[in-house]
Order: sequence, then C-alpha cells, then structure tokens
Amino acid sequence: MYKRELKIFVLEFDSISEMSETDRELILSAREAAENAYAPYSKFQVGAALILENGELVKGNNQENADFTDGLCAERVALFYANANYPKSKVLSMAVSAKNANGLLQEPAQPCGSCRQVLVETEVRFNNPIRLILDGAKKIMVVESAESLLPFAFKPDALG
Ligand code: THU
Repeated sequence: MYKRELKIFVLEFDSISEMSETDRELILSAREAAENAYAPYSKFQVGAALILENGELVKGNNQENADFTDGLCAERVALFYANANYPKSKVLSMAVSAKNANGLLQEPAQPCGSCRQVLVETEVRFNNPIRLILDGAKKIMVVESAESLLPFAFKPDALG
C-alpha cells in the first residue's frame, strides 16, 4: 500500500487591481457576460470569458430553460462556441464570474463538475493547460490548469 498525496497550487489575489491587464480584461468580460445570462429560474448569473491563442476573446453565460435539465452552464457555452468556431486555436485562459441576488459572489466562482470535465477534454484536445481565473469580490483565485481541479479525470485515452 502506498499513500499518495496530491498537491495543487492556487494563486490568490485580493483584488482585480493586482492582476495583469490581460487577466483584468478577461475578468471584466466574464462579469459583463454574467449580466447577459439567461437565468430566470435560478437567478444565478454566470459569465465565462476565454482567450484563444489566435487572440480571440469568447464569452458565454448560462442559458436556462423551463425544462430545467435543458440548460447549459456559462463555461460550456463559451468552450463549445470557441471549439466550434476556432477549432484550431488553443484555449489559453478562462475567467469565470457569478452573481446572485446580492451581486458578485464573495468567494471565487467554482466551475461545476461537468464543466471541469469539458475543460479537461479541451486541455487534452489542444495538449495545453487552461489557466482558470475564478472571480470573487473578496478573493480571485487562479489555477494553472483545469485538470488540477479534477484529479484522476476521465480522459479520452481511457477509451482505448
Ligand atoms: N452554472 C454555471 O453556469 N456554471 C457553473 O459552473 C455552475 C452553475 C449555472 C447553471 C444554472 O443555470 C445556474 O448556474 C444555477 O445552477
């Protein structure tokens, strides 16, 4: 038996002003995207903004439906749009921002498990880590890859 310890590195910023201009632009775009979310049922508005290697900035937000299970998260809306329209361009970074009735979340927005799965697939597809910038009013968190948030992920190589 061997007990293995997994480590992840998380950068934490107290405010957006501490971040690089590119990161700030991405966070502001994610906040803007959250404003345009279609979330009449949960009233939880999420925005995602990603930057591609070709310089394109792609935004997405959650899209809900009266048939609740038909909705889609902001992160996947942005990723699927990017992968559909720029299939050759690596996804470099993604910012995620979320607001509820009280405004911007205090703690960093956390992508759900399904979005983590799709993020990891995109990392595998382009053989490139996706830097995640998770926005919060009190704290902004940065991780260097989506896989660090989904250890032992199910990946395409498992299919043989
Ligand atoms: N949501 C996202 O857009 N991204 C996440 O990672 C978590 C959840 C959306 C889905 C739904 O429209 C609302 O937030 C409440 O779950």
